[in-house]
Amino acid sequence: MALLELCLAFLAIGFLIYKWSTATFNTFEERNLYFEKPYPFVGNMGASAMQKASFQKQITEFYNRTRRHKVVGLFNLRTPMIQLNDPQLIKKICVKDFEYFPNHQQFISPNERLINDMVNVMRDQRWRHMRSTLTPVFTAAKMRSMFTLMNESFSECMQHLDTYSKTSSGKKGFEVDMKGLCKKLSNDVIATTAFGLKVNSFDDPKNEFHEIGQTLVFSQGLPFFKFMLCLSAPRLFNFLKLKIFDSGKVDYFVRLVVEAIRYREEHNITRPDMIQLLMEAKKESEDNWTDDEIVAQCFIFFFAAFENNSNLICTTTYELLQNPEIQERLYEEVKETQEALNGGTLNYDTVQKMTYMDMVISESLRKWTLAAAADRLCSKDYTLTDDEGNKLFEFKVGDNVSIPICGLHWDERYFPEPRKFDPERFSEERKGELVPYTYLPFGVGPRSCIANRYALMQVKGFLYNLLLSYKIEASARTTKDLWESARGFNVTPSSGFWMQLVPRKE
Ligand code: HEM
Ligand SMILES: *[C@@H]1O[C@H](CO)[C@@H](O)[C@H](O)[C@H]1NC(C)=O
Ligand SMILES: *[C@@H]1O[C@H](CO)[C@@H](O)[C@H](O)[C@H]1NC(C)=O
Ligand SMILES: *[C@@H]1O[C@H](CO)[C@@H](O)[C@H](O)[C@H]1NC(C)=O
Ligand SMILES: *[C@@H]1O[C@H](CO)[C@@H](O)[C@H](O)[C@H]1NC(C)=O
Ligand SMILES: *[C@@H]1O[C@H](CO)[C@@H](O)[C@H](O)[C@H]1NC(C)=O
Ligand SMILES: *[C@@H]1O[C@H](CO)[C@@H](O)[C@H](O)[C@H]1NC(C)=O
Repeated sequence: MALLELCLAFLAIGFLIYKWSTATFNTFEERNLYFEKPYPFVGNMGASAMQKASFQKQITEFYNRTRRHKVVGLFNLRTPMIQLNDPQLIKKICVKDFEYFPNHQQFISPNERLINDMVNVMRDQRWRHMRSTLTPVFTAAKMRSMFTLMNESFSECMQHLDTYSKTSSGKKGFEVDMKGLCKKLSNDVIATTAFGLKVNSFDDPKNEFHEIGQTLVFSQGLPFFKFMLCLSAPRLFNFLKLKIFDSGKVDYFVRLVVEAIRYREEHNITRPDMIQLLMEAKKESEDNWTDDEIVAQCFIFFFAAFENNSNLICTTTYELLQNPEIQERLYEEVKETQEALNGGTLNYDTVQKMTYMDMVISESLRKWTLAAAADRLCSKDYTLTDDEGNKLFEFKVGDNVSIPICGLHWDERYFPEPRKFDPERFSEERKGELVPYTYLPFGVGPRSCIANRYALMQVKGFLYNLLLSYKIEASARTTKDLWESARGFNVTPSSGFWMQLVPRKE
C-alpha cells in the first residue's frame, strides 16, 4: 500500500515538474508568431544546454533555419524571447524607438550585492545617469594614459614566455595553452587598470587577487552552476536565499576599492586607472553615487573583460596560425610600427595606426562572435511595423527581445563565404559594402558596449608584443575544428587553446 502511495507521489511530482518546464511553451502560438517546437527544460537550446554545441553554434543554426521570418519566437530554456532576424528591424528597436526598449533582460536575483549597481544591470533613469557618468571614463584620451599601465603587464608576460623560450632552446619553439596565458594576463591587466593594484600572476600565480578573482568569474565552476539555476528557476533561487557570489569574496574587492579611494584622497595620489577616473567622474556628476555604486563599475571588468579579452586573443591567434600569409602580413605591419617608434615604447596612438591589425581583429570579432546575442526588454507596449507600415508584431511590457548577432555574422547574404577568415572584408575599399546593422560585435545603439576601446587596446597591444617575438604555429594538440569542438558561452575548445610559439630571433 505504502509503495503504491509513494509511486503516486513520485508521478505527481514528476508531472508537476514537467508542467513547470513547459508552462511557457504556448506563448507564441497564442501570439501568432512563427516558432520551432521547444523541448522540456531546454526549449530551443537543447544542443548547447546539453554541452553538445557552443551557444554561438546553436544561435547561428537557429537563425539560419528561421531567417526567412523577420520576427521569430525563440525559447531560451524556458524563457520566450522575440528574435529579430532583420537588420532594419534591429535598427528600429535598438536605435530609433530605443525609448520602448531601454533595458536589458532582467534575471539576477535582487539580494545580490553590487550586481544590481552595475551599469549593465541598471534600468531607466538610473542607468541613464550612470551611463553618462561613465562615458567620459572610456574616451580615447583616458585610454591613452591607461595604456601605460597595461604595457607593464604585457612585458611581464613576454618575460615569462622568454624563460620558456630559453629552456626549450634547440627545439623548434615551445607549446603553450593560449587560454591559460591570456587569463593570467587579463587578471593582471584588470588588477592594475581597474583596481589600482599591481600583481604579476606569471611569477606568482597564487596571488590573492587572482585566487579570489577566479571565484568570481561566472562562466566557470560553482558561480556558473548557480547562475544557470538563477536563470532557469529565479523564484526557487530567491526562496532559498542563494547568492551567485560568496559575500566574503565580494567584500574583498569592495574594501580594495574603497580603501584605495580614501588613501588617494588623503595623500593626493593620482594613477591613471579606473579608480582615479571614477573618482573624477563622481565629482563631476550631479548624482550622489554611493561607494557600492562606484565599486560595482570596477566589478564589471570581471564579467565583461576577463573572458572576452582573453577569448579574443585566443581566436585571433588561432586564425593566424591557420592563415600563415595573414600572420606574415600582420608581422610586417608590427615590424614597421616598431621601426617607426625608433626605440620608443608602444603607445595608444601607435596602436590605433595599425590598420591591418584592425582589419584582422574586426574579422576575428565577426567570425568568432564573443557575445552570441544581445537582449532588450520591452518597457512600453509597442507595435512593430515594416517600412510599408504592415504590422509585424505587438510587443507587450515585459517581453524579452533577442538580437542574434552571431547569426547575422555568419549569414552569407551579408558576409559571403562566412567560414572564411578574410580581413579584407574590413579594408578601406570594401568597408563600404557592409550592410548597416549586420556587424554588431559590441552590440547596437545607446546600450552598446561602453568599453570597446579598452578591449581593442588590450588585445592589439598584446598581439603587437607577441608577434614581434614569436611566430605562431599549430602544435600536435591544436584544435582542428574550433566551430565543432567549442562548448558553452565561450568559443573555447574543452581541451584548451594549444599552440606552438617559435621565437623569431635566436
Ligand atoms: C572584446 C571584448 C568585449 C566584447 C565583445 C563586448 C561586447 C558587448 C556586448 C555585445 C554588449 C551588449 C550590447 C548590446 O546589448 O547592444 C556589451 C555591453 C557592455 N559591455 Fe562589453 N564587450 C567587451 C568588453 C567589455 C569590457 C572590457 C568592459 C569593461 C568595462 C565592457 C563593459 C560593458 C558594459 C558596461 C556593457 C553594458 C552597457 C549598458 O548596458 O549601458 N565590455 N558588451
Ligand atoms: C545555413 O543553411 C544552409 C542550407 O541549409 C547551409 O548550406 C549553410 O551551411 C548553413 N549555414 C550555417 C552557418 O550553418
Ligand atoms: C610603458 O609606457 C610608459 C609610457 O610610455 C613607459 O614610460 C614605460 O617604460 C613603459 N613600460 C614598459 C614595460 O614598456
Ligand atoms: C592635497 O592637495 C590640496 C590642494 O590641491 C591641498 O590643499 C592639500 O593640502 C594636499 N594634501 C596633501 C596631504 O598633500
Ligand atoms: C551624499 O550622500 C552621503 C552619504 O549618503 C551624504 O553624507 C551626503 O550629504 C550626500 N551629499 C549630497 C550632496 O546629497
Ligand atoms: C562579454 O561581454 C558581454 C557584455 O559585457 C557579457 O554579457 C558577456 O557575458 C561576456 N562574455 C563572456 C564570455 O564573459
Ligand atoms: C523575460 O525574461 C526574464 C528573465 O529570464 C523572465 O523572468 C521573464 O518572465 C521574461 N518575460 C516574459 C514576458 O517572458
